[in-house]
Amino acid sequence: VGKQALLDQIAADIIQDNVCQDLAKQATQLVIGDGDPDADIVFIGEAPGKQEDEQGLPFVGASGKFLSEMLSTIHLTRSQVYITNIVKYRPPQNRDPLPEEKKAFLPFLIRQIDVIQPKLIVTLGRHSGMQFLPDLIISKDHGQPKRIALRMEQGSIKTVILPLYHPAAALYNGSQRQVLMDDFQLIPEILKKITTIK
Ligand code: URA
Repeated sequence: VGKQALLDQIAADIIQDNVCQDLAKQATQLVIGDGDPDADIVFIGEAPGKQEDEQGLPFVGASGKFLSEMLSTIHLTRSQVYITNIVKYRPPQNRDPLPEEKKAFLPFLIRQIDVIQPKLIVTLGRHSGMQFLPDLIISKDHGQPKRIALRMEQGSIKTVILPLYHPAAALYNGSQRQVLMDDFQLIPEILKKITTIK
């Protein structure tokens, strides 16, 4: 079975298991993720917004445009990475995802990571970062890669997490915007180091 088929199965299971039914009912569709199932890097945001909900793809609105621009500065395109969110349905009025919503989707996110086996996971925003680094202080820890072991039902996956600011927040805050763009420039070197260690 190919990786894409396994990712498709995760989407089917979310629907089959009625994960977050209340969210599902008011959303247009599931936004499972987009990009290369063999990618070295997985980007994880918080939850789909309006445009993402309409198109069924993550990061296609204003913050997605900014994300694509930053990717291009490190000579990557969306199709060379994998992009997803913790929560896979748009919360009403773009409210923050609830703790129980993040918890409900976490096993599916970990399955996605297990299929893709990325070298590096880049979390976008503090909600996303705290799923993997519970003690994260984003203003202090952004841009610093951390090795972690993700616990699975069976065994664990060793990976590296790079916590970054969220592009939506950074878009409207000049100093955060520069910090995020500067942190992005660290990605190729971090990836290179991980590759030589492995
Ligand atoms: N913000 C997110 O966190 N995710 C998206 O997919 C779009 C905007």
